[in-house]
Amino acid sequence: MIGFENVRKEYPGGTLAVEDFTLEIASHEAVALVGTSGSGKTTLMRMINRMVDPTSGRVTIDGEDVAAMDPVRLRRSVGYVMQASGLLPHRTVLDNITTVPVLRGTAKGAARERARELMDTVGLDPALATRYPGQLSGGQQQRVGVARGLAADPNILLMDEPFGAVDPIVRRELQQELMHLQRDLKKTIVFVTHDIDEAFLIGDRVVLLKPGGVIAQIGTPQEILAEPADDFVASFVGADRGVRTLHVERVDGRDVVVDADGRAAGVLETRAAAGRGSAGDGSTGESSSGDLPSGDQPTGATSP
Ligand SMILES: Nc1ncnc2c1ncn2[C@@H]1O[C@H](COP(=O)(O)OP(=O)(O)O)[C@@H](O)[C@H]1O
Ligand SMILES: [Mg+2]
Repeated sequence: MIGFENVRKEYPGGTLAVEDFTLEIASHEAVALVGTSGSGKTTLMRMINRMVDPTSGRVTIDGEDVAAMDPVRLRRSVGYVMQASGLLPHRTVLDNITTVPVLRGTAKGAARERARELMDTVGLDPALATRYPGQLSGGQQQRVGVARGLAADPNILLMDEPFGAVDPIVRRELQQELMHLQRDLKKTIVFVTHDIDEAFLIGDRVVLLKPGGVIAQIGTPQEILAEPADDFVASFVGADRGVRTLHVERVDGRDVVVDADGRAAGVLETRAAAGRGSAGDGSTGESSSGDLPSGDQPTGATSP
């Protein structure tokens, strides 16, 4: 569990990066901090592993104040994946992944074996082990970054816009893989992003930040979409522009869900049709969506 208790951060020079931030993150939970640039996301994240110390307030891990922990040991026990992968350019992929475990005293052979397993876990070709970061694509570099973050088998994984620098298709792939990984690994993940879609995808809960680390809303993606706390949140999630509004069009006897731009997002199945109990749409609960009377099409938002 990670706790922020009335945390404030004023940088030398007077910037008030975080005014007064309180949050509890449960063990095994993935929390996405999302907000525009400068809203204090990186500052908050770095207070967890003491790369930044709060001006006042406390940050705890499993109830223990991080201020009382040795910063070097703390940093080695918490996985950290950053935007530009942060790889050491003059070390091979394998050596980048083994750096922290070796520093922590793992025998080199064992660390390398584990690194090869991790390369497989994050979808890296074993042949890349001897390459240098500059010889990899952006997506491959980020995969190495994730493998390195996991190398010490940390309970906590901090990810600061880890997929921000790769192209949208690769980003989508990396996001999906992280979600699959998390299903098995069940780490406590703090994931920073300025991309609300990414936050909704990765976060069990999403924390929407205004400048100064002010919490605009905390909730599951469903809760935030269903009930944006204020105009700021509505605007951030695109609710005010109808971006999140989906509607249903009837095509060849099937209900196709269409987004605000008229693009098909998928085919609507009732719960009953999907074999998961009764339809919650006011229909008779028959298993086929084909028996909805035409003209009786549900409208409004639906979730994927
Ligand atoms: N080391 C620093 N010294 C002074 N100001 C900083 C420092 N790091 C961040 N800031 C300022 O604190 C605010 C929050 O920054 P940051 O936490 O990096 O935001 P985000 O990650 O949300 O973009 C910004 O105004 C930024 O300029
Ligand atoms: Mg940042």
